[in-house]
Amino acid sequence: MKKIVSVLLIVCGVLTAGYSDAEIEKKVTDLLNQMTLDEKIGQMNQYSNSWDLTGPKPDNDRNEARYEDIEKGLVGSMLNVNYVKNIKAAQELALKSRLKIPLMFGVDVIHGYKTIFPIPIGLSSSWDMTAIEKAERIAAREASAAGLNWTFSPMVDISRDPRWGRVMEAGVEDPYLGAQIAKAKVRGYQGHDLSDHYTIAACMKHFAAYGAPNAGREYHSVDVSLNSLYNVYLPPFKAAVEAGASTAMNAFNTLNGVPATGNQFLVNQILRSKWGWKGVIVSDWGSIGELRAHGTAKDLKHCAEIGINGNTDIDMESLAYHNHLKELVEEGVVRENQVDEIVKRILTLKYKLGLFDDPFRYLDEKRQTTELLSEENRRASREIAKKTFVLLKNNNNLLPLSKNIGSIALIGPLVKDENVSIGNWACQGGHEKAVPVFDGFQRVLSEKTELLYAMGCDIYGDRRKRYDMEIDSEKFKAGFAEAVDLAQKAEVIVAVVGETRMMSGEASSRLEIDLPGVQNELLMELKKIGKPLVVILMSGRPLTIPWIAENADAILVTWHAGIEAGNAIAETVFGDANPSGKLTMTFPRCVGQIPIYYNQLNTGRPKNRDYVWLSGYIDGPNSPLYPFGYGLSYSTFEYGDPILDKSEMGFDETLTVTIAVTNTGKRDGEEVVQLYIHDQVSSIARPVKELKDFQKVFIRAGETKIVKFEITREKLIYYDENYEELLEPGDFEVMIGTNSDEVKTKTFTLK
Ligand code: NOJ
Repeated sequence: MKKIVSVLLIVCGVLTAGYSDAEIEKKVTDLLNQMTLDEKIGQMNQYSNSWDLTGPKPDNDRNEARYEDIEKGLVGSMLNVNYVKNIKAAQELALKSRLKIPLMFGVDVIHGYKTIFPIPIGLSSSWDMTAIEKAERIAAREASAAGLNWTFSPMVDISRDPRWGRVMEAGVEDPYLGAQIAKAKVRGYQGHDLSDHYTIAACMKHFAAYGAPNAGREYHSVDVSLNSLYNVYLPPFKAAVEAGASTAMNAFNTLNGVPATGNQFLVNQILRSKWGWKGVIVSDWGSIGELRAHGTAKDLKHCAEIGINGNTDIDMESLAYHNHLKELVEEGVVRENQVDEIVKRILTLKYKLGLFDDPFRYLDEKRQTTELLSEENRRASREIAKKTFVLLKNNNNLLPLSKNIGSIALIGPLVKDENVSIGNWACQGGHEKAVPVFDGFQRVLSEKTELLYAMGCDIYGDRRKRYDMEIDSEKFKAGFAEAVDLAQKAEVIVAVVGETRMMSGEASSRLEIDLPGVQNELLMELKKIGKPLVVILMSGRPLTIPWIAENADAILVTWHAGIEAGNAIAETVFGDANPSGKLTMTFPRCVGQIPIYYNQLNTGRPKNRDYVWLSGYIDGPNSPLYPFGYGLSYSTFEYGDPILDKSEMGFDETLTVTIAVTNTGKRDGEEVVQLYIHDQVSSIARPVKELKDFQKVFIRAGETKIVKFEITREKLIYYDENYEELLEPGDFEVMIGTNSDEVKTKTFTLK
């Protein structure tokens, strides 16, 4: 009997998973016709599980009544409910409702669910779209094994201000790279079929321009031009739409003074009309209710009206729709067919997720046990982590260190840390321990190497230790003497320093982005010893580290590298892996240079020589500490001259550029070959260079690879202030190189 049931289920699965759009539309319309207005509004209402908040508790919180609301069909989706048992319980409540419409369950699965991968700025730094897709695929497998069907990811906000804590969640200053990453992540989460048991719905966020808060201050207003909006901030969203992202999230910020939540220009004109996107939009946490604080709504009822007119389909934790939408419809302020259109979108997504076929389809305790934090997933996290490290400096090939070295002093507050590498937004992996660097070193080294350890100092300055607290920095230096003493006994010093987990992420903007606390002073003391100094830098953002850049012998940026951090770092430091990451955000010299990005405009007075009346500063250079695209390897790569197959290109033609890249080093390695374009004369000033393609290629020691790029009109187009595509004839420079600063240039003409 058992056998027959499972065969039947399989048959049903095959039959139901592949509905055509027309079939889904019919089912949705039939269901909608049976729904009361309350039930429709219920679909637009999203609650958080009340014990796991990722935002401020609403002032009109319904606490326990939330569960009654589910039973009455007054809730359409939930966030922050985790694991099969809890999700099942909530789903069972939903199925007691009159129409038995299943709930969707979403969580911030940002860089892994239980098996934590490197934080997104690290994943981005890999420039490896296959690795990024794989990380998100595993995250989706784990999240769906835990019963979820929706992630609030990817964040695709371009940002050029490392003071903003959320750069850890994407960490990309460039729209082209941001667009490739957005696509890889959507593919990773959603696969080919949303109803597949191993996929979850993606959510591109935060729509739009949230990555440009004034002065890098969290939740601050945004003031970007239409030119920047169209050419810089929107492309990753457009790419996510093209990749099939099922949902989107509003941003907290204003744009042109209008809050992005309920913003008709952004949502109705661009997302819905111009891009024709039919997915579901969820507000950010409480962002509908925040329209009051923005000063564009007088009360929560007014918030609901603005939200719905701006096509925010789901209200996350404001209770604006729950409390006021019915009234608005009854008063004729909102038309019921506006509500219907929204509910149709939500129900359509639920059909696509397969929830109507089987509301418990993701709920399999056994799969949860085997899938979460499996050895295979951990291994993948480690392999991917090794691709994300950026080698900033390596004097005299100090790295990799020999495994036969006699003694190493491992110094710093993060050497034995099991917490920091997990990073912020660590979902259910937040309670797990990451492999510390110390353990990784021990594993890789034999007993012949003496591994000395001193913490040196603790880190202070995160949001748990507020800025106005009296901090006696001298006290933090108490461990310096021991560290120096110990370091004197070793052949080489490896210092592991950086930011703690909570120094980046939401609500973690910083005024200064140097190495927090007394860590730099610790490094200065270590330097005085005169031994080779390797700095391993863990952070959630680019840091201002001019002293380290000048004085360390080697610098390896590892970001917050995930659950296998220590192993991945040790394997890299001792040469089992060769670093291949490249910066996706510029490292400034100092805070005064921010916002800083390579794809800037030339200005009328570019600082191309030492002269007063040019665009610059009187107290320092314009150039960054490390440019976008920068990153060394244990191999060395030599670039030939780019070869163009023609010097003139028609509007619909393809121009092919090839370049020979030789690995002149002694080790096999990977190089990210980057192609930039500059439109020399255009009706709207264009950036000095823009990334338009790249390839990460593996090149054996001594081998030469011919890397081929194709330039088509898509790579030359930009948008005018009406969001119309512009493609103008004239001369273009094509630049290829190892980073945005070191390129070889050729020109061609578009005719
Ligand atoms: C607020 C954050 O801005 C957003 O990214 C996140 O998805 C929600 N909280 C839900 O946790």
